[in-house]
Amino acid sequence: MKRSLALEAIKQIGKKVTLKGWVHSIRNMGGIVFVDLRDVSGIIQVVFDDTKSHLTKELGAEYVVEVNGKVVERGEKYCNPKIATGKVEVAATELIIINSAQTPPFEIDKEKATDEELRLKYRYLDIRHERIKNNLIARHKLINHIRTFLNQEGFIDVETPILSAPTPEGARDFLVPSRKYLGSFYALPQAPQQYKQLLMTAGIERYYQIAKCMRDEDSRGDRQPEFTQLDLEMSFVEREDVMALNEKLLIELVKTLYPKKRIQTIPFPRFTYAEAQKKFKTDRPDLREDKQDPDLLAFCWIVDFPFFEKDKSGGWTFTHNPFSAPMPESMPKLLAKKNVGEIVAAQYDVVLNGFEIGGGSIRNHEPKALQAALGIMGYSDDQIKTDFGHMLEAFSYGAPPHGGIAWGLDRLVMVLQNEPNIREVIAFPKTDKARDPMMGTPREANPEQLKELGISFKKSK
Ligand code: AMO
Repeated sequence: MKRSLALEAIKQIGKKVTLKGWVHSIRNMGGIVFVDLRDVSGIIQVVFDDTKSHLTKELGAEYVVEVNGKVVERGEKYCNPKIATGKVEVAATELIIINSAQTPPFEIDKEKATDEELRLKYRYLDIRHERIKNNLIARHKLINHIRTFLNQEGFIDVETPILSAPTPEGARDFLVPSRKYLGSFYALPQAPQQYKQLLMTAGIERYYQIAKCMRDEDSRGDRQPEFTQLDLEMSFVEREDVMALNEKLLIELVKTLYPKKRIQTIPFPRFTYAEAQKKFKTDRPDLREDKQDPDLLAFCWIVDFPFFEKDKSGGWTFTHNPFSAPMPESMPKLLAKKNVGEIVAAQYDVVLNGFEIGGGSIRNHEPKALQAALGIMGYSDDQIKTDFGHMLEAFSYGAPPHGGIAWGLDRLVMVLQNEPNIREVIAFPKTDKARDPMMGTPREANPEQLKELGISFKKSK
């Protein structure tokens, strides 16, 4: 017989069904045995009359089973409003054990604080928790919605390389040694920033990608060494165009996927960086009127960031993105490299409930403006040629004006799912110490591999 999912059984009252899934819990009430059966759609109660048949005698938690039986309505007082299938149960006539299971290292049927190392070591069991599974499903739906929206808006999804060159996104790079060119390295992308700008130069005009980004920086609740961006870029646009498109997408996806949630203010309020600092003492204000309300979403935009700030050694560095353009009125200062502290970048960040969920800018598409910005940051002509020569050269072949944005997808899903940490919405995250206890990474390399790569490693205590 065709397999039914637990959730489908609600519509099959009086019918015979075949269910397959995991044994979530077993309760023996004097020979009448209640088994909660779990599959990807949810949980359903199965009832075995073991006073005669002893069908469940060998059953254990997390066993994989097939159950044949009839869907029956539960009496009113036996309904379980906590589960979607709570009005029905399956009166079992047959049980087939497909696979047995060891006792899991933590209880799957109970939500309780389990040590994070243990949860991540057995992440495939942790994902059996409804909450984590639902987070992954919510993430999938969100990405699907984004794709549909952007496809309709004429965007093209383009993949960009993972084996790349160092990218100045403000964090350390992960380096990948090359076997063919001993002593040379690729870097994993901190963001597809340069590629997307090169795609604009190539005439793609509207690009997006659900992009993996890698940054060797300390983890926090809202930060992982490997995370996902919705990265997009558009040609022939101004700041308002990019912001309007993103605001429309954010509003639409909340209304479609989270109809119970309320966006506090539409259009999203907008503050300059200076206003935000003055009013909220942060550029990531949490504007919610009621911070206890789990269904309240307060978005805002922060604009007009200073382009440069002083670094530790007293030189100038970029606050957000070295490829940003200045606001038009700041362009003369940039080109003259004068009054550097006053140069305002065409940068915009989108903030949700106190988290920076995205940031972008209009870019410097003219080589001389990019060169001036890099010069202010202290790059010598030689360094500019080595690190950014390909960008300057590309822009000399007719680059259109362009701009874009990248969302921190994990952060957005975290807020929408009311999770305190992005690890809860990533299938296989790293711990806060940047380790993966399941795969045992990072781990020491095989000496043979190191030899092939020409790497010898001195252990420091
Ligand atoms: P930025 O560095 O601001 O911009 O990154 C964009 C968004 O990505 C998210 N984010 C992170 N999420 C989880 N873990 C991290 N370690 C992490 N770092 C950043 C944040 C952030 O707002 N190329 C530019 C974008 C552009 O200008 O188009 C960039 O990467 O939500």
